[in-house]
Amino acid sequence: MFLLKTRARRQAGALALAFCIVAGCVIPARGAQQSGIPQLRKHGTATQLVVDGKPFLLLGGELGNSSSSSLEYMRPIWPQLVSLNLNTVLVPVYWELIEPTEDRFDFSLVDGLIQEARRHQLRLVPLWFASWKNSMSCYAPAWVKTNQQRFPRAEDKAGNGMEILSPFSQENLAADARAFAALMRHLREVDSRDHTVIMVQVENEIGMIPDSRDRSVIANKLFNQSVPPELMNYLEQHRDTLIPELRAMWAVTKFKTRGTWEEVFGPGVGTDEVFMAWHFARHANRVAELGKAEYPLPMFVNAALIRPGHQPGQYPSAGPLPHLLNIWRAGAPQIDFLSPDIYFQNFAEWCRKYHQSGNPLFIPEAILGPLSAVNAFYAIGQHDAIGFSPFSIESVAEPTRSLLAGSYDILAQLTPLILAHQGKNEMAGFLPEVAEQRAPQQARLGGYTLNVTYERPSPSVTQGAQTSDPISGGLAIAVGPDEFIFAGIGLTVTFEAHTSGPPLVGILSVQEGKYVDGQWQPGRWLNGDQTHQGRHLRLPAGKLDLQRIKLYRYR
Ligand code: DGJ
Repeated sequence: MFLLKTRARRQAGALALAFCIVAGCVIPARGAQQSGIPQLRKHGTATQLVVDGKPFLLLGGELGNSSSSSLEYMRPIWPQLVSLNLNTVLVPVYWELIEPTEDRFDFSLVDGLIQEARRHQLRLVPLWFASWKNSMSCYAPAWVKTNQQRFPRAEDKAGNGMEILSPFSQENLAADARAFAALMRHLREVDSRDHTVIMVQVENEIGMIPDSRDRSVIANKLFNQSVPPELMNYLEQHRDTLIPELRAMWAVTKFKTRGTWEEVFGPGVGTDEVFMAWHFARHANRVAELGKAEYPLPMFVNAALIRPGHQPGQYPSAGPLPHLLNIWRAGAPQIDFLSPDIYFQNFAEWCRKYHQSGNPLFIPEAILGPLSAVNAFYAIGQHDAIGFSPFSIESVAEPTRSLLAGSYDILAQLTPLILAHQGKNEMAGFLPEVAEQRAPQQARLGGYTLNVTYERPSPSVTQGAQTSDPISGGLAIAVGPDEFIFAGIGLTVTFEAHTSGPPLVGILSVQEGKYVDGQWQPGRWLNGDQTHQGRHLRLPAGKLDLQRIKLYRYR
């Protein structure tokens, strides 16, 4: 058992600020650059995760909540994860298990996970299940839970405590941040050479429910005080580029720059949410700050998304949601980006909402199912996603297993190309906006307009397995003049020219194939029925495919 006394080191953690965010662009600290530890780097308009000095495309899966609490339980799971072609596993790390007694740390579980990940050539993204996990504080250690006097809870209107640690307590913050700093210090000690651990998620789905805000005495007091100048200054400086929902809210008071929360943002649950978001962000920021002072890995927070028509308090409010992006960015500059957990069908819409205002897209959780295969293509092709990771990956079953493994296999083959073409408008992703979508979608790429229609599998067999879901989607990369790579399933694409020159477009060749060590290896030459006699490119329904097409122009 690894035991560590931490008090002597507590103060040291506060000193270094390792990362900063300037207008959404992450600048690694000098220390991170020099030591080669995983970091974020701009590449065109994209933000890339750099591991061992090279950009890294994260093909991941998140474990169910309890699996990583037992190394024995995990033993048969590792090979399954490898067979899914994952390169990274997102693993919960539990505050209650690493600090079962105050100030006595046990990292044996973390060490075991790192060891097994290395043995299976997988990278890890630990998820810090600490003060908040899906709004609740169920992962706080017993010594925190049972000492409500010292570690206060959020309270409802009647003064009853909830199992939600108050973000307004310095004692709560100090305990969480100390434990996180100890974890990051330990990671530096055991992993700063191998870089098995490549990013860290701070807390999990922070949010306030079933009330729109904490009603404790301290919360009420702060709510009736002035909005902190740090937030006011940020909002004033970014007034013209704020996320429209927040700007509209502030516009109601004619952009008042001084006053209580209700004076600045108007009365209502929306203001409760902004108030809570600021304080949750300040907490997460301090936790990340002390963690990065020990070991400055990229850090992010994730959000439970809003059900349509729900109001703050009816959904886990005040988390890192798109309409609160500015609040979180102002309050938590140590957090490198905000991430969505996408369990809804409108996957493309949520990707767009999180890939705005300089926030890079990384999806730590998404619903696990046949659509995972095409959602990964879309997020990576259309939004330069750092990575994709469906939830409860160890419970995967057919047909999702074959589809996801197939999709990750193709994405792994394409990784060097994808990383080279990110951030330059040289890639597009395709996904039906709704399951029944019939109308073609258009994308402009490499001097052409691509008209994409989606097919549905018929009869319901996909990748050799029964499924009733319509699986279609994919990505395209403009790899050279008049030349594209297409990957995906159930797509038909026609081409139109949108640059000057001969107006008509013909197909010179379509090859099916694969990439081996970055080199294209053609298989069948597709023509005749497979391209509708030269009229279109088609990735058939029911089978993931990779094709390379050359076009030409005529009149
Ligand atoms: C989202 C959470 O972040 C996960 O930890 C897990 O609880 C899933 N929801 C369950 O659907």
